[in-house]
Amino acid sequence: MKALKWIGIVIGGLLTVLIIVALVLFAISKQHENQIYQIEIASIQINFDDEDALYNGRHVARVRGCVECHGNNLGGDIFLEDPVVGVLVATNLTKGTGGLGNEYSDEDLIRAIRHGVRKDGKSVIFMPSHEYNVIDEKDLGDLIAYIRSKDPVDSSHLPDTKIGFPFRLMYVLSGGDIHLFPARIIDHSLPVPAYVAVRTPVELGGYLAATCIGCHGPNYGGGVIPGVPPNWPVASNITMGGPLADYTESDFATVMRTGVTPDGRQLEGEFMPYPVFGYMTDEELAGLFEYLRTRPVRETGTR
Ligand code: HEC
Ligand code: HEC
Repeated sequence: MKALKWIGIVIGGLLTVLIIVALVLFAISKQHENQIYQIEIASIQINFDDEDALYNGRHVARVRGCVECHGNNLGGDIFLEDPVVGVLVATNLTKGTGGLGNEYSDEDLIRAIRHGVRKDGKSVIFMPSHEYNVIDEKDLGDLIAYIRSKDPVDSSHLPDTKIGFPFRLMYVLSGGDIHLFPARIIDHSLPVPAYVAVRTPVELGGYLAATCIGCHGPNYGGGVIPGVPPNWPVASNITMGGPLADYTESDFATVMRTGVTPDGRQLEGEFMPYPVFGYMTDEELAGLFEYLRTRPVRETGTR
């Protein structure tokens, strides 16, 4: 009997400790969520109603993945729903009901896109702004013009974002690998990069490859993607230490446009967003492949 009592006390004690740890982690995540950023935004030139600007803006919205999460009409969408992660909703960017088009100035949009900071001063939730502060002044201006040109969409049917309790704990325990509050990891002092009229293929590839990092890792070595539900496949190694070593340039273009790899696997667009990358021009894909070929070789799984 005495032994049982002691086991009970030990288990009770452990549970209490676990609950306290969980509450502390939760509190840390709340503190990160509620941190306020004050960021002044310099205005940039935006060519509203200019056909070329709108055409390029749509291209940027596709190849940078905006439409992947916010929907083709930019009317917002649930982009992740999972018992652990919670419900993550990409905002309606139009002027329709539930959209921020009427409330946000151009500067407010730029602050959200490049700095990951919302109008209320808090970090955006899980929106990959840290991949977007490389976007140059012209592409950024054209992107804003394009967002402004979209027809109003009513998104009142969409739920509110709710971060799952376990995901908050995972976020804190990941020690920064999960970018739940991207404003924390962005260097807010960086100015908007100047427009570059002509880029070499490798420069063009490097410019676009910022969008691959979130999943394939900053070193492009692939591995488990931080913060996605367990049903997601592991991201491939896209340095020459992985399958791309055996790719030709046209194999690469085929994967990026159809999701079919040279060894005959059909990748799923839900995980590897080839449906939007497929909009890249031949020149962009060639540059991207050339850029990846110049990256240091990594072992698979070393992100
Ligand atoms: C991986 C999915 C994903 C991608 C890709 C993405 N977003 Fe988002 N975006 C989100 C989510 C989720 C939110 C909601 C964030 C929140 O609730 O704080 C959001 C919010 C926003 C907001 C509003 C932030 C605010 O102030 O409330 C803007 C503006 C925005 N995104 C623009 C863009 C643009 C432009 C692109 C492409 C360059 C883009 N997003 C790409 C997921 C994404
Ligand atoms: C939202 C996450 C995500 C983003 C962003 C992303 N990828 Fe992927 N990618 C994946 C995943 C996951 C796989 C593995 C899919 C599988 O094995 O089913 C993959 C596989 C690939 C493959 C196939 C390699 C092979 O033969 O196994 C290539 C090539 C590739 N990605 C290139 C890119 C490039 C280039 C970019 C940036 C322009 C990019 N990916 C951005 C998630 C992503």
